[in-house]
Order: sequence, then C-alpha cells, then structure tokens
Amino acid sequence: MSDGGKLSGKTALVTGASSGLGRHFAEILAREGAEVTVAARRTEKLEELAAKIHQAGGMARALPLDVTDPDSIHTAMERPAFDIVVNNAGITHDGPALETSPADWDRVINTDLTGVFRVAQAAAKRMVDEGRGGSIINIASILGLRVAGNVSAYATAKAGVVQMTKSLALEWARHGVRVNALCPGYIETDLNRAFFASDVGQALIKRVPQRRLGRMSDLDGPLLLLASDDSAFMTGTEVVVDGGHLVSSL
Ligand code: NAI
Repeated sequence: MSDGGKLSGKTALVTGASSGLGRHFAEILAREGAEVTVAARRTEKLEELAAKIHQAGGMARALPLDVTDPDSIHTAMERPAFDIVVNNAGITHDGPALETSPADWDRVINTDLTGVFRVAQAAAKRMVDEGRGGSIINIASILGLRVAGNVSAYATAKAGVVQMTKSLALEWARHGVRVNALCPGYIETDLNRAFFASDVGQALIKRVPQRRLGRMSDLDGPLLLLASDDSAFMTGTEVVVDGGHLVSSL
C-alpha cells in the first residue's frame, strides 16, 4: 500500500491523532506512503492506530505529545525534520462569553492557538536547520472565518490560526517551508454524531447550502493537496471545505 503513493518517502507528524479527524488524517497520509508519527496524550489509542496502519501496509509510530507542554514538543522534535506537519490537536469550550472563566479561555487559547504556534515553530526550526523545506497544515475551522454563538474562545483561537498561517507563510517561504490552513465546516465524527441527530443539530444542517454534514473523507483530497508537491506554489492560503456553509444566505 505504501509503495509509490503520492507521499512515498516523506515523513509526517499528525498532532491530536488519537481520535476524530487526526486519526483519519494519519490513515490517509499513511495510505499515500508517508511514514506517519501519530502524536497525542493518550498513548494506548495511538499504539492501536499505529498497529492498524501497519496492518494496512503503512508505516506509523506512536509518540506521546502534549501541545501545551514545550518540553514535550522539544522531545518530539529530537529526530530528523518532518516533511509534513498536520497541526490538528484542538479542544473547544461551549458556553456564553459572559460565563466563560479565565481558566476555560486560557485552556482553549493555549491548546488551539499557542499549541499550533509551538508545534509549527519547533517543526520549522528543524526544517530550516536541515536546509530542507516542508509543508505545515494548520487545522483551523470555518469558525475562524465567521462566528457562531457560545464558542468565543474557540472562534478567536481559530481566527488566530488563520492569521498565524499567513504570518508564518510569509516568513518561512524563503526556507521552502509552506504553511497553509485547512478550514473544515461541520464534519461528522464519533463525538458530535449524537448532537447532529438532535433537532438543534438537524436545524443546523439545514443552514448548510449542500444540506449535509461533511464526511471525514471529504477532507482527503484537500489534505493531500496541501501535504504534497501538488501545492508547491501554495502558501499562506486557507482552504475551506464546508459544503458552502460560509456562503450561506444572510
Ligand atoms: P477530537 O476531540 O476528536 O480530536 C482532537 C484531538 O486533539 C484528540 O485526539 C485530543 O486528544 C487531541 N488533543 C487535545 N488537546 C491536546 C493536547 N494538549 N496535546 C495533544 N493532543 C491534544 O476532535 P476533532 O473533531 O477530530 O477535531 C480535530 C481538529 O479539527 C480540531 O483542531 C478541531 O478544532 C478541528 N475541526 C473539527 C471540526 C469538526 O466538525 N469535527 C470542524 C472544524 C475544525
């Protein structure tokens, strides 16, 4: 399976790979021949994923990583530079802005915004030190481009990720390091399936012009575009995959 794929000979890091989109991204990159390091805090889930990728003929290894812990990131980067970095780890906090505590705000910003910067900077330092380029893909969200209620910290962090992507792309282009943001709309995962089956969830789906949720597989093409040399002349962009949600009627 890993022979002759689009990413054959490349190494990749996926943060937050223990569940949801990160897990899926790791499998897709491995299927295209990349040797994937799957990183998150829950190592037993990562070992299970790495074994599944091996079974399918791919290459993977599990790595404990907490994106809020600079030491953990430093340790993760003690190896040759990754060619591809998918900055996927993220958390959210649901609740009105008036009731969001400083601790909840900090937790989301620290993981979703500062965590992305820590990983991108550490990975890019390795790429630059070794005189080779790379592709960094920051998983933002349509909530980084428009807003919804009760997710102020999350939307702020994701908007920051979009702007950070552009800043880093500008500074690192001279080193051959490309930085792009992937902005998914609402994608069905194990965690949100029950919500989207509810009346509120169904009403939300009706506001998506394509009248459906995204499937994880809808992200495969855009992910591989940004990860591979097919996007050699793309940097600092935001690639939106949302069934038209951002252009829904006002
Ligand atoms: P998820 O909760 O299944 O996955 C998040 C992953 O990040 C988990 O593996 C979690 O363990 C990991 N993580 C959290 N904090 C971490 C830390 N400090 N260090 C290392 N890993 C950590 O959620 P999902 O839906 O798969 O989200 C993945 C990314 O996609 C997130 O950045 C999310 O904001 C983004 N996204 C998801 C959408 C969706 O509809 N599911 C839509 C738009 C963006």
